[in-house]
Amino acid sequence: MPHKVNYEDYDYGDYYEYEDYDDYDYDVEDNGEAPTPASESKQETSKPRVWSCAICTYDNEDGMSVCDICGVLRTPLVNNNRKTAPFKFDVPSPDDLVSNGLHSSKTGSKGNFLDLKSSRVSSSVSEKNGSVNTRSSAKKSDIANVLMPKDKQDSVDERNSLKNEVRASSRISASSSVVMAKDRLGTIDEGNCSNHGTVDDSISSSVDGTESSSHTGNLTSNMKNMSSTAKSGNSTNVSARKTNSHTQYKPEKWMLPDKKGDRMTQLNLAIVGHVDSGKSTLSGRLLFLLGRITQKQMHKYEKEAKLQGKGSFAYAWALDESAEERERGITMTVAVAYFDSKNYHVVVLDSPGHKDFVPNMISGATQSDAAILVIDASVGSFEVGMNTAKGLTREHAQLIRSFGVDQLIVAVNKMDAVQYSKDRFDSIKVQLGTFLRSCSFKDASLTWIPLSALENQNLVTAPDDGRLLSWYKGPCLLDAIDSLRPPPREFSKPLLMPICDVLKSQHGQVSACGKLEAGALRSGLKVLVLPSGEVGTVHSIERDSQSCSVARAGDNIAVSLQGIDVSRVMSGGVLCHPDFPVAIATHLELKVLVLDFAPPILIGSQLECHIHHAKEAARIVKITSLLDTKTGKVTKKSPRCLTAKQSAIVEVALQEPVCVEEFSNCRALGRAFLRSSGRTIAVGIVTRIIEDQQ
Ligand code: GTP
Ligand code: MG
Repeated sequence: MPHKVNYEDYDYGDYYEYEDYDDYDYDVEDNGEAPTPASESKQETSKPRVWSCAICTYDNEDGMSVCDICGVLRTPLVNNNRKTAPFKFDVPSPDDLVSNGLHSSKTGSKGNFLDLKSSRVSSSVSEKNGSVNTRSSAKKSDIANVLMPKDKQDSVDERNSLKNEVRASSRISASSSVVMAKDRLGTIDEGNCSNHGTVDDSISSSVDGTESSSHTGNLTSNMKNMSSTAKSGNSTNVSARKTNSHTQYKPEKWMLPDKKGDRMTQLNLAIVGHVDSGKSTLSGRLLFLLGRITQKQMHKYEKEAKLQGKGSFAYAWALDESAEERERGITMTVAVAYFDSKNYHVVVLDSPGHKDFVPNMISGATQSDAAILVIDASVGSFEVGMNTAKGLTREHAQLIRSFGVDQLIVAVNKMDAVQYSKDRFDSIKVQLGTFLRSCSFKDASLTWIPLSALENQNLVTAPDDGRLLSWYKGPCLLDAIDSLRPPPREFSKPLLMPICDVLKSQHGQVSACGKLEAGALRSGLKVLVLPSGEVGTVHSIERDSQSCSVARAGDNIAVSLQGIDVSRVMSGGVLCHPDFPVAIATHLELKVLVLDFAPPILIGSQLECHIHHAKEAARIVKITSLLDTKTGKVTKKSPRCLTAKQSAIVEVALQEPVCVEEFSNCRALGRAFLRSSGRTIAVGIVTRIIEDQQ
């Protein structure tokens, strides 16, 4: 079965330009600070028919509940005692969360904080030891407990047990030719039928005050210990890092690939696109056509899908393996599967298209070297996907570009639903092409393929349906994949592997999964795990469920570690060379581009910041300058707020430290994404790590 992971991360290539974006210039004070509450209330009393916006100071008519200029809500400003800078987003501050008891009780949730509902559903961290609490699991579980209604939690519980059954069955059906990472998980889980201590488990645990608060107490102290250890441990590490520049690093001979090419290049290929566009069906069909799913297995999927009244999802079931995914007919977490093309060993990252699961899409697709953007060609569906309010096509394309992916195959799927019409294909190409170019995808790096996953047209061979054959002479999907340029790899740099997933067994075995971004690994090698600062030894490595002796940059692997406290390895962390630790920070300067559907970003805005697989609550502490989107030059200093399509330098304070690097040093750890209220609102790069004053 496919390996389900909860991934995340970002690139920005060279900060993709939005050529047709105009800067929106604000006529506001230039001190970059929020106006004082006193002055606002004064204005309100002296001008009863208008209210002054706390952010841009515009005098709005009394009847307006939202500032006409910058969109800031009036109500919270009126009701608040205004001790703090006003927030635009309907999310609580971290302090609010604590004081509302969000970490420990069932009340206090104001809104869609951190998208944790979806993170919960996606988590594939498998902790079998109930006493182990990772930092990420703590946050996910506690907050999600509050956000999720009890009935939902029950269903999650149920799903977890079903998930384990699915795992078990995937172990049993070892004869299946789809040998995927989940089987590894199965091996590690062997003998454990219950799901004690998993992240999912803790989320679905009771929100009963006592239990939760004691649990939370432990978590909080664990988290504190962890971060203090991390800090103290890392202060030496970070200074060591400063003295050990990458130029001093000399890779050993075994770390570099054999010139003759000892094996096929791994190509991490993200499958993205709007919900229901057919990503999983396409992936499943490809796996079947390429022999990674047996006829017998396929029959089983067909039979089961039919029985559940979901016959059309048979191929998707190869990827959507959890009971809830199958029941709902949507992908929730990224599924990892493998197939070989002529030139590549392809790692398929089948991403969820539903908006609730974008954090998972980020976490998974951030590892991609190239992507397939799947479009539903049916009349109305393409249009919904492109809709800025409801559609995910644009957001996925922007995210993918920001991950640094510049090679994109646009699979115009469901062509059968439009009778393989050339006009429809051309019209989609024109509309979407304009948008993709605005995201700085170059025409030469875009491949457009009309196809039908359901009717198997144009996937691994040329189409045989006359309606398509009559006008399409280009490559089939598999040929297009083979024509992708080999991705550059950082073989000669020190080891760097952001951890996207952690598998833990009761017997103290821990495996970190993810893509090796730089350097190489082999058994017996000492690795530093950050942010915890522990050093462990590589016990074994698996790639595509096969154990291997050496893994190099670009490989998607599971690394089993020994001699390490299992609780100190967490998703969002990083494996690195002990002499070349990455930085750990809470205060960052970012260069961001606000996406075109984003609400205004203000000083004090509470956001969710994604950096590789780490996801952290963040606050905008400073908006340093507005930049020209074309030239990058400063056009205004200290603006009050940022609006859609603007580019700016901002400072963010993170709630907990994350492993991060300046983009100029390391692309994989130097990309950041800001999300709020379930939407990605800005993409960016880390321009500076700001030392915290302590
Ligand atoms: P999410 O992962 O939830 O975003 O959905 P998805 O993009 O993976 O879509 P999925 O593969 O689950 O398919 C959704 C529906 O589209 C299913 O009913 C499929 O049978 C249908 N579908 C997929 N491909 C085609 C196609 O080529 N033609 C037609 N007519 N239907 C298709
Ligand atoms: Mg899917």
